[in-house]
Amino acid sequence: MIILGIDTSCDDTSAGVVVDGRAVLSNVVHSQVEVHHPHGGVVPELASREHTRNIMPVVKESLSRAGIQLNDLDGIAVTVGPGLVGALLVGLYYAKGLAYVSNIPLTPVNHLEGHILSIFLEEDPPPFPFVALTVSGGHTSIYHVEGFGRYVLMGQTLDDAAGEAFDKVAKISGLGYPGGVAIERMAGNGACDKILFPRAYMEKDSLDFSFSGLKTAVAQYMKKWREERGKDNQETTLADIAASFQESVVDVLVHKAMTARSWTGVRSVVMAGGVACNRRLRERLSLAAAEEGVRVYFPRPEYCTDNGAMIAAAGYHRFLRGETADMSVDVRSKFPIDSPPLED
Ligand code: KG4
Ligand code: ZN
Repeated sequence: MIILGIDTSCDDTSAGVVVDGRAVLSNVVHSQVEVHHPHGGVVPELASREHTRNIMPVVKESLSRAGIQLNDLDGIAVTVGPGLVGALLVGLYYAKGLAYVSNIPLTPVNHLEGHILSIFLEEDPPPFPFVALTVSGGHTSIYHVEGFGRYVLMGQTLDDAAGEAFDKVAKISGLGYPGGVAIERMAGNGACDKILFPRAYMEKDSLDFSFSGLKTAVAQYMKKWREERGKDNQETTLADIAASFQESVVDVLVHKAMTARSWTGVRSVVMAGGVACNRRLRERLSLAAAEEGVRVYFPRPEYCTDNGAMIAAAGYHRFLRGETADMSVDVRSKFPIDSPPLED
């Protein structure tokens, strides 16, 4: 089954062609970083406008790189949520148009299911069941994944997402948008044990996250640090702050992912989403897993950040289950993974 996957949930216009939910024929992403960079974050109206400009060339490019025509497709999968409503609408209506005029079945996909299943685009995917930590700019959650389409939410952020914390700390540090890559680069020259920022582990029996306190702590530290800058006795550098902040996020993510692993007794831990590109996080989770004799799985960075191929993979399994939709399907800004079926 050859599936085209389309994602316009945030600030990337993306389309990918995947065979049987595994073999990627193409994965085209048009980033809007340059458009949003001057504003220090994603501006929803600009995102919609850019998606409208780019959706057609991106989809065309994905078909041409895959070496196929529209009528070779067995199905079209499109993200309908969660995400920015105006941005999602562009992808959904474009997909509806293509499906309608070419008489190709359409299936609506949950963006988070796409992130979880992105690991199946890799050579050696994990066996079920596994624990999945999805960490991105909009989401931080842990799932017990029992099979395709069978996800049990074990914990999630109660305020900011991990990626959002990276982006906000980068902004207050003057490192620009998007923040994750910039913080990681800066942290490479710093000492991660220089400042002990808070770790919100919360109650022992909770797998929920909270990153807003950490963000505030870094902002307060930074304010004081700036006031004292230039004084002879100041030894802490911006790199130390970045590294110490990153270590705090990594500690919490690794601790909770491994706790979920031990509670469920599974032997595999998957990490996906944009923050899963972070090398320190990959390294620390790998070490923690090795200590417990379990395996970790990370998709390559281009499958961690938003992409159409992961939506095609998730869509393939929906088609297998007969979960298609008609032209009345709509977008959902909030869309828990265990929501009622989309085709209702
Ligand atoms: O999955 P994604 O592309 O979009 C969402 O669904 O949100 O994730 C984007 C997020 C941004 O917050 C970005 O700062 C973060 O992923 N990110 C990183 C790294 N690369 C991207 N965070 C930490 N370290 C990185 N290397
Ligand atoms: Zn995402």
